[in-house]
Amino acid sequence: MNGSTSPTALITGGARRIGREIALTLARAGWNIALHYHHSREDAEDAAREMEAIGMKCELFQADLGRLDEALAMVERVFERMPGCRALINNASIFERAALLETSEDLFDRHFTLNFKTPFFLTRDFARRCREGEVVNLLDTKITQKHSNYFAYTLTKKALFEFTRMAAKELAPGVRVNGVCPGLILPPPGEGDAYMERMQIRVPLRRKGDPADIARAVLFLLQNDFITGEWIFIDGGEHLK
Ligand SMILES: NC(=O)c1ccc[n+]([C@@H]2O[C@H](COP(=O)([O-])OP(=O)(O)OC[C@H]3O[C@@H](n4cnc5c(N)ncnc54)[C@H](OP(=O)(O)O)[C@@H]3O)[C@@H](O)[C@H]2O)c1
Repeated sequence: MNGSTSPTALITGGARRIGREIALTLARAGWNIALHYHHSREDAEDAAREMEAIGMKCELFQADLGRLDEALAMVERVFERMPGCRALINNASIFERAALLETSEDLFDRHFTLNFKTPFFLTRDFARRCREGEVVNLLDTKITQKHSNYFAYTLTKKALFEFTRMAAKELAPGVRVNGVCPGLILPPPGEGDAYMERMQIRVPLRRKGDPADIARAVLFLLQNDFITGEWIFIDGGEHLK
């Protein structure tokens, strides 16, 4: 693999968990990585070392994506330092429990900013700079649900799903835009194995998935250049009603 001539993928929230697995999977497939992180500096540095060990370039970009000015400045820095940037993976998000009646304005705003507004404008600025490229948005199997104890979160992913399809039409033929909808993969903050076992009852395949299942789907969407405006459920069948 020759990192100096390879295309670059920008991955938000790439230091840990699913984002990290996506970054490593893409690096193994020959992509250089622009790895965004917010607080997880040590994990980001560790991931960068792993990617460099397999011969790919990985540069780190710190930003609070809850602030649009920081998000857009980050895109500028990425294209300055890695002009071969050809893919954007909108992965960073927050996921906080609140039914509709418990949803505060603050929780609503934080979710809509990080999970929807930021991917919207990152996609806009990415597409302005890169006439040919791909965007993959991390959605959620919950986009099929009407009931959710994560009400605002679920709405942000429904909005991002519609955005994915509209942006795919608008940005064709140069930029493809697709989505991946994970199901039960990793427990949310503060939860562990007991939570995952409780939740498995909802999954037709009766088990959780692995971050590698999500990463393979992202790679597939990047590699198949006749797909746009599409979304893939990687959820053990949870979206089936
Ligand atoms: N986990 C699952 O089972 C599951 C299920 C369905 C959908 N998904 C979707 O898949 C994606 C990845 O899931 P995950 O569980 O791996 O995500 P996660 O761990 O909850 O969050 C990913 C990253 O988002 C970053 N982040 C949070 N607030 C930020 C801010 N203000 N500015 C910048 N970055 C911020 C964090 O970066 P730092 O650590 O650097 O601070 C974090 O590592 C998400 O879009 C999620 O909605 C996940």
